[in-house]
Amino acid sequence: MNIAVINGPNLNMLGIREPEIYGNSGYDALCELVKAHGAAIGAAVTCYQSNHEGDLVDEIQRCYGKADGIVINPAAYTHTSVAILDAVKAVGIPTVEVHISDVSKREDFRHVSFVRAACVKTICGHGLAGYTEAMDYLKTLIEAK
Ligand code: DQA
Repeated sequence: MNIAVINGPNLNMLGIREPEIYGNSGYDALCELVKAHGAAIGAAVTCYQSNHEGDLVDEIQRCYGKADGIVINPAAYTHTSVAILDAVKAVGIPTVEVHISDVSKREDFRHVSFVRAACVKTICGHGLAGYTEAMDYLKTLIEAK
């Protein structure tokens, strides 16, 4: 089982960026967490981050024929990007949307998610644990197929 974990803009600044919202763990710790969790559940994990919308689209497309599931936190592009929505639809890979913070309790503009329409599940506000929960969800889904 191959799971791709894809993170959008400013998530490379985890641990530095607004720690009261996103916590004190850094991006490297997030990658270590998802890779260790992958090893525990029998999944090979790739960890990708970009601050650029087109690069995120390219990475989603690269998953085609390779990944069995995608965990994506599109960060700010969640609220604006039809291109990321279309890329997830295009590859047809089961995808879980994750947000570290509870976007439903923040500014109104964060209540809108373009990518959600292409996702099998959304997990918000569980901190970094949301990523491992998303992986568990995908494992169950993939194994049921
Ligand atoms: C985020 C929430 C987004 O609104 C924000 O732009 C982010 C991170 C989260 O993980 O909580 O960059 O996706």
